[in-house]
This record gives sequence, C-alpha cells and structure tokens, in this order.
Amino acid sequence: MDLKDKVVVVTGAGRGLGRGMALSFARKGAHVAVVDLSEDDIAQTVSQCEAEGVKAKGYKANVAREEEVEQLFSDVVADFGTLSGLVNNAGITRDGLLIKVKDGAITKMTAQQWQAVIDVNLTGVFLCAREAAAKMIELQVDEGVIVSISSLARQGSFGQTNYSAAKAGVVAMTETWARELSRYGIRTGAIAPGTINTDMIAAMKPEARDRLVGAVPLKRLGEPEHIAQAATFIFENDYFTGRVVEVDGGLR
Ligand SMILES: NC(=O)c1ccc[n+]([C@@H]2O[C@H](COP(=O)([O-])OP(=O)(O)OC[C@H]3O[C@@H](n4cnc5c(N)ncnc54)[C@H](O)[C@@H]3O)[C@@H](O)[C@H]2O)c1
Repeated sequence: MDLKDKVVVVTGAGRGLGRGMALSFARKGAHVAVVDLSEDDIAQTVSQCEAEGVKAKGYKANVAREEEVEQLFSDVVADFGTLSGLVNNAGITRDGLLIKVKDGAITKMTAQQWQAVIDVNLTGVFLCAREAAAKMIELQVDEGVIVSISSLARQGSFGQTNYSAAKAGVVAMTETWARELSRYGIRTGAIAPGTINTDMIAAMKPEARDRLVGAVPLKRLGEPEHIAQAATFIFENDYFTGRVVEVDGGLR
C-alpha cells in the first residue's frame, strides 16, 4: 500500500507509540484519525500531524466500549469519506502476581485487574478491527490493513498474567483475520515491541527499568520510531499478512 492520501485510524495515539505511528503515517502523506481518551493529548497529536500537511482529526473514544467504537468508525468514514487502515495500539497495564505471599499472607491478582486489561487490550482490539473491517468491506476499498500492537510479553511475563494473555490473544486474532479477510483485500499484522522508551516504561521503578535494559542484547531501550518503522513496513509490504514483527533489540 502506498500510504499517500490513505486514511488510517490510530488508537491510543495521544502519546507514546501511538503518537509516533500517527506522525510517521502523516509524514508518508496519510490522513490520520487520532483516537484516545485525553482531549489534550489528542489535540497535540492532531496538530503535529497537521504540521506535516495532511488532514488529521481527533476522536475521544474508549476502545473497550462497543457503542463508542461503532460510533467512532461511522464518524471517521463520514469525516474522511473512506478508510484504509487501522492501528490497534491503545493499551494498559495492571501488573501484579497471580499469587503474592508476604509474611505468610496471600494476596491475589483481582478479577478487576484481570478484566480491565482484557477489556482494553483484547476486547478493544477485537471491536476496532471488527468495525474497521466492516467499513472497508462496505466501502469496497481495494486494499486495507489492520495492524495490532502485541508485546514480547505474549510468551509469558512475570507479574503480567492479564497483559500476557491479552497480547497472545492479539497475535491469535491477527492470524485468524489474515485467513478470513484476505478475500476482501484486507491484510493484517502484529508488532511485538520489547522495551520501548515511553511513559509506560517511565512509570516503572528505576531498578526494574535498569534490569530490563541490562537484559537487552543491544543494551538500550527501543524508541517509538522503531515501532513506527515496523508499522509502516506492514502497511507498505503487500505480501505481508497474519504475522508478527518482533522489534525488541534481540531480547526474546
Ligand atoms: N512501551 C513499551 O515498551 C511497549 C512494549 C510492548 C508493547 N507495548 C504496547 O504498545 C501500545 C502503546 O504503548 P505505550 O507505551 O505507547 O503506552 P502509553 O500508556 O504511553 O500510551 C497508551 C495510550 O493508549 C490510550 N488508551 C488507554 N486505554 C484506552 C482506551 N480504553 N481507549 C482509548 N485509548 C486508550 C492512553 O490514553 C494512552 O494515550 C500498548 O498496546 C502497549 O501494550 C508497549
């Protein structure tokens, strides 16, 4: 796909990896629908995209809520007239051990901790991909792309039962959709970032962050630009579908 004048929805684009991808698409000439929860963050990403000379519009929507996602994609098509791509990037963490034992007392990961992450990182990806695919098929676009952000954690990660399960599910859905949607000209792809320098990482304890960096063969964090490059690759490479691109400095 040539990104010039295509319309791409990026969820969680108010900051971090999502903003990096939105800007990178804008630099390639794509028009961007910027989705997030914070209006201030959305406004900043929109103006940075517009500065690249493309059309950008912000949408405040919670990807975990079905009615909001349905409305979002109807609004995007009404505003831009078409839809070529989606990046499922919005995500959260609610880390904790399945079972923690301290001084003989047991605490458990709560069902709420579990559900919050599943709602955004798994159900949100399902809902956005479903609505994006439905619109692309209705519009009879020649080509469409759905990229979803998984994680290195998809293979299991200490303290991340909820997050690992959701990110493994993202890869399973990506493979499934490649099989189901290619007949409509829609390709899919997932990206499994390692440790990338964003607010999510900045929120970690310094010792935990240092341990993470020390374990990376390249001995440094990735930058949002590295993930944006992978997303652009999936959009532009017409023989890519259903697979995961790992961008982790060799960590796995
Ligand atoms: N940063 C990393 O090292 C790393 C590594 C692997 C995977 N990832 C994944 O990459 C994605 C982006 O991570 P990031 O580091 O940029 O995180 P971030 O917290 O900086 O940004 C995430 C954005 O998603 C938005 N968001 C959260 N819940 C939402 C919802 N329900 N509806 C709409 N928007 C919502 C937030 O408001 C925020 O702007 C996530 O899916 C994350 O799991 C990040």
